Amino acid sequence: MKKTVLAIALAGIVGIPVASAQDKQVQVIHWWTSGGEAAALQVLKNDLQSQGVQWHDVPIAGGGGAQAMTTLRARVLAGDPPTASQMLGFDITDWAKQGVLKNLNSLAQKGDWAAKVPKALQAFDVYKGNWIAAPIDVHSTNWVWANKAVLAKAGVTSAPTTWDQYIADLEKVKKAGFIGLAVGGQSWQEATMFDGVVVSTGGPEFYKKAFIDLDQKALNSATMLKAFERMSELHKFVDPNYANRDWNVATGMVINEKAGFQMMGDWALGEFNHAKKVPNKDFLCFRTPGTQGTVTYNSDVFVFFNVKDTAAQNQMAEDIMSPKVQAGFNQLKGAAPAELGTPSAGFNACGQKAISDLAYADKHGTLFGSMSQGYAVPPAIKNAFYDVIAREFNGEITPQAAVKQLADAAKAQY
Ligand code: GAL
Repeated sequence: MKKTVLAIALAGIVGIPVASAQDKQVQVIHWWTSGGEAAALQVLKNDLQSQGVQWHDVPIAGGGGAQAMTTLRARVLAGDPPTASQMLGFDITDWAKQGVLKNLNSLAQKGDWAAKVPKALQAFDVYKGNWIAAPIDVHSTNWVWANKAVLAKAGVTSAPTTWDQYIADLEKVKKAGFIGLAVGGQSWQEATMFDGVVVSTGGPEFYKKAFIDLDQKALNSATMLKAFERMSELHKFVDPNYANRDWNVATGMVINEKAGFQMMGDWALGEFNHAKKVPNKDFLCFRTPGTQGTVTYNSDVFVFFNVKDTAAQNQMAEDIMSPKVQAGFNQLKGAAPAELGTPSAGFNACGQKAISDLAYADKHGTLFGSMSQGYAVPPAIKNAFYDVIAREFNGEITPQAAVKQLADAAKAQY
């Protein structure tokens, strides 16, 4: 939706009290519909319900949240906003510009969010000096998940740390009769893989230049060409039925010993957790080979709209930032808490790795917003990138053409 139309429409309806939410109730739009996601969200629901706040669930399936954002826009334009919505990256900024997000400063001051939330996240959670988002987690996308039994049968005894080792291990798994790489053929998922491939190929500084700075020299480089060629290399290890497969179905293929590897954000850990699988016994979690030390992050936040029941709304924002929810939710979700310093006891080995990797990257300037999850470029450019990456991965365009089309997409003024 063109920003101007949205702005005009919103100007007409901002401030009209919506149909009054029943007392002590929150209506929440989100896209956490997989087993692991729903189990994690139940922690927040239970916490609120223990305080007398009823949760009216508005789940909009579709990993990455595109469908949820469409529903949210329709609801707000109809003058019927939810209490809150899950949101990511530059979508937060766009909504903040419309002037319809609730100011959370009093809660942020009371909870000292500024001292606890990584500065990189605050660039999105704070707009023109005002807190307008409560971050519940910090996921990251440069991960690989592997089934240990499948790898053992293929003669792979440890996680690959270089790209060449990774390709050799994929070959071994395929030769042993398994699907090498479990992929969901949806553009947001292919872009999620591309985050790690670009860091692996060019390093963190190259990733920053290409995707944060949109530097044309980096985008048009031989390094970017090599990244696309690596995507074509990965395509050799997918099964013929990957088109439009949901991400958690692909994760299930690794969990159930159908496939050796999956390249996916650590929400995949939530599925292993939900299946009661044990890290380093049943499965391995490791950074995309060649990217250890870098974290391409995406933080799930909740933003809040102008509804009548502000007491329940405030309670929800406070609960999200409470130590109990930051730990309890993320131990199941597979993410690191959004508040640095949250105790890592109670997290499994992969969760503890997510926490330590985040702290390291935050300290060493290698914590960058995930392009695929909307934390690097505005939505219109991200969606244009999605199309190019998907077409190249599916073999519809060459790596050379993809380099040019990606660079051109970055130039377009949306
Ligand atoms: C991401 C979100 C994760 C998970 C994933 C798959 O955008 O940040 O929490 O929901 O989508 O749905």
